[in-house]
Amino acid sequence: MSFVTHLECANCGQEYEAGKPHALCTSCQRPLWVRYDLDVVKQHFTRKKLVGRPPTIWRYLELLPVADPSNIVSLTETITPILQVPVLAKRFGMKHLLVKDESRLPTGSFKARGMAMAITMCKEFGITKVAAPSAGNAGGAMALYAARAGMESWVFMPEDTPAINRRECALAGAHTYEVNGLIDDCGKIVAAGEKEKGWFNLSTLKEPYRIEGKKTMGLELAEQFDWQLPDVILYPTGGGTGLIGMWKAFAELEAIGLLKGKKPRMIACQSSGCAPIVTAFEHGNRFAKRFDNAATVASGLRVPAAVGDFMIIDAVKESDGLAMSCPEEEIPRLMREAVQAEGISICPETAVCLGVLERLLDEGKISDRDKVLIFNTGAVQKYSEAMEASLPKLNLNDSIDWSAI
Ligand SMILES: Cc1ncc(COP(=O)(O)O)c(C=O)c1O
Ligand SMILES: [Zn+2]
Repeated sequence: MSFVTHLECANCGQEYEAGKPHALCTSCQRPLWVRYDLDVVKQHFTRKKLVGRPPTIWRYLELLPVADPSNIVSLTETITPILQVPVLAKRFGMKHLLVKDESRLPTGSFKARGMAMAITMCKEFGITKVAAPSAGNAGGAMALYAARAGMESWVFMPEDTPAINRRECALAGAHTYEVNGLIDDCGKIVAAGEKEKGWFNLSTLKEPYRIEGKKTMGLELAEQFDWQLPDVILYPTGGGTGLIGMWKAFAELEAIGLLKGKKPRMIACQSSGCAPIVTAFEHGNRFAKRFDNAATVASGLRVPAAVGDFMIIDAVKESDGLAMSCPEEEIPRLMREAVQAEGISICPETAVCLGVLERLLDEGKISDRDKVLIFNTGAVQKYSEAMEASLPKLNLNDSIDWSAI
């Protein structure tokens, strides 16, 4: 039994019945929220109850949509560590800088959270064929969780998606296609395949349960901080599920009386190569225009039009946060400097957050005394194209020139 009461359109408020598969709102084509009976959750979900539960996302079961835990499809979605980054903090002139390292999750990125939940719900509803567009890690996560669940999957990826992302999908047995377009073009193919082939569409925010999986980032963070959240969270924003999900988690925890103190300011970080949310935010708009000629090495952020744009902007505004971009050309430097400073597997999307952090401090938008947490959403090893490729060679037929080493 879950505590879900109903689903509700995030835009027009139309309600939908729980316990059934859903897509976008049928009236306005916008995403749905999963709603819980928080009064009842409050009685069942207490700090004491968490003691002794396994350290995975499933420990928050009362705030998750799964009705029958035997349907859970899991590769062990472990609680991810929060690392101190003293060298980077010093470089930025800050007192408290932390990184929550999502690269430890199955499939090497935080996408495991959303896909573990979405595939679990598909299993609960008896769905056996799933499809998604992906410009990065979501495709791999879907393919691997679908394999784990014994489902058939289809992935459509822009042809410039990192090779590892394309290959991990194929390796997991997903029907994987390279498309000469962007992620929204791939999304149109998936939408057409719903009718043509009977696929269930797992596109970002087009079904409501990936958010519930991503929500565990917020639940987990709160528990790790003993229910007192940091001042500022920097999050690399593409489709926005993570930021939206975390904000939902904080609201739910607040409603059940678990949070102490203030909620954090949420900073949506994008690259100047694809910054539709930043542009909308700067113009005071709630809905974003499609970003033309989107191009960034931070492939997970190459989302020129996000169906949940208004949900991202609402969360940012409610939190007294902001949306900001980092110059695209800075990403390789920021990534290299961070990995070299701390030895953490910082992905290009997270390097974008570091660029935004520089700007936030320079422009006085945050204080150097704020407790700031950055999400490292994936493992840099998945981005071989974004890493230095030309290495000096040693020829074993020659003697080694030690003066050059
Ligand atoms: C590593 C990484 N970071 C961030 C994002 C953006 O995620 P979201 O859709 O939650 O905004 C993605 C999406 O593919 C990603 O792969
Ligand atoms: Zn609606």
